[in-house]
Amino acid sequence: MGKQLRILTGITTTGTPHLGNYVGAIRPAIAASRNAGAESFYFLADYHALVKCDDPARVQRSTLEIAASWLACGLDPEKVYFYRQSDIPEIPELAWLLTCVTAKGLLNRAHAYKAATDVNREKGDDADAGINAGLYMYPVLMAADILIFNANKVPVGRDQVQHIEMARDIGQRFNHIYGGEFFALPEAAIEENVATLPGTDGRKMSKSYDNTIPLWLPEKDLRKAILGIITNSQAAGEAKNPDDSNIFAIYQAFASVDETAAMRRAYAEGIGWGDAKQKVFERVNTELAPMREKYDALVADPAQIEDRLRAGAARARALATPLLAKLRRAVGLRDLRDTASTATKSKTLVEKPALQPVVFRDGDAFAFKVLDAKKSVLAEKGGFADPKSAMAAAREAMASLGGG
Ligand code: TRP
Repeated sequence: MGKQLRILTGITTTGTPHLGNYVGAIRPAIAASRNAGAESFYFLADYHALVKCDDPARVQRSTLEIAASWLACGLDPEKVYFYRQSDIPEIPELAWLLTCVTAKGLLNRAHAYKAATDVNREKGDDADAGINAGLYMYPVLMAADILIFNANKVPVGRDQVQHIEMARDIGQRFNHIYGGEFFALPEAAIEENVATLPGTDGRKMSKSYDNTIPLWLPEKDLRKAILGIITNSQAAGEAKNPDDSNIFAIYQAFASVDETAAMRRAYAEGIGWGDAKQKVFERVNTELAPMREKYDALVADPAQIEDRLRAGAARARALATPLLAKLRRAVGLRDLRDTASTATKSKTLVEKPALQPVVFRDGDAFAFKVLDAKKSVLAEKGGFADPKSAMAAAREAMASLGGG
């Protein structure tokens, strides 16, 4: 039997879950976790939370709320791996091993770090002013999260795609340097048909825009929040364009195909905004109410959640511990009595193969590959305007692979 596909994703524990998180991440992930044929890993990225949040009570509270949310929404912790990152000591340990094979230049190019330095430069400050090294190392910790479980697919938003590519690069480089297939190389899975929910101001619902509707508001407050969503000034009786309406987009994210079609007709017939919002509230509330009851019960019983997370970590560590032991041996963190492996290691060093760049035409553009002596492809990228820039990128890739 072939190895099962492994799907893994992390949720940073800095905030309170909102409707956008539910529609865009929690609901689709739980649906996917019910598919047989894949092993799912969901974890609370509390080490990542420390990069942007130094409020301990908030990290703890967010961990509780996010764990309770996933469980209330139907995640079955017996069928998936559900754990807290900081319960897996193999993750930060692997992060250090990976740090030592990661090109500093790769991290310089990370979008989040670059954006932070750009802001500083614009203000005339030192490029690194106020930036902690955690932000800089973020992609390496994330690579460790993914690689420690040999995940194949990582469902993420577009903003995280670069991080997955970096995890791939870093894993590939470790495999290459230490001469083994230690890590599966992960791929980002971007959910194309998952709705991004508009927030109360029409922009994408996001904590950074301060336009969110918390997922577990009591019914009365949920209604109030939905009635407060900004709409245009069209009067009742005027035909309205559903495709230009936040209210409709939210409705659609919760309603069936038939319900959505009926709502389209109501818009054409000039439903008033007040009525349309009331319908959104009712539809959303129908879906959330039973889960809200579970959520409230779970949050009131933190011991139960703590126990489940620890049980999840124990199961996950059963996978992580043997892999880390293998990696420690591979890099030379070894039992000194183990002399046989010392010999193997120096042989590997001697046989380290040379790298070779290959540039080729790919449709209208140019692409490169970096091959090792056994002709395995270590890096590959297309979309270059001319052979020269493809070759330059190939050399850069070779440098970051530590050879050439
Ligand atoms: N960085 C991710 C985010 O902000 C969270 C995260 C941490 C993650 N580690 C991960 C996602 C590993 C996927 C895989 O959304």
